[in-house]
Amino acid sequence: MPSDPALKSLYIQSCYGCHSTGVASAPRSGNQADWAPRLQKGMDVLLSNTINGLNSMPPKGMCMGCSEEDFRNLIVFLSGQSE
Ligand code: HEC
Repeated sequence: MPSDPALKSLYIQSCYGCHSTGVASAPRSGNQADWAPRLQKGMDVLLSNTINGLNSMPPKGMCMGCSEEDFRNLIVFLSGQSE
């Protein structure tokens, strides 16, 4: 779980449902093998795919109140780049 309480609540409300267990082959939170090919696209692509959606990933991961900075922080967490 993200250590920052605000980020943690966004993660639980919006991303956890799919990304904790890998629903519809979502890359699993903190799973390096799942994220390695994604990280190669670079943060800008990951951010724009998060905002616009990608296949079964809904636009903004259904977090309509999330800012671009929130998404950036969530992606850093999901991809295991933070603790
Ligand atoms: C309804 C399920 C669902 C929710 C909710 C969801 N995701 Fe996803 N996510 C997916 C799936 C499925 C994929 C894989 C899409 C693909 O590659 O076809 C994905 C892929 C991604 C990727 C990789 C994109 C890429 O270019 O490879 C990122 C980053 C991501 N999600 C971030 C988030 C964030 C941040 C949240 C919460 C705000 C979130 N997701 C919420 C299902 C979800």
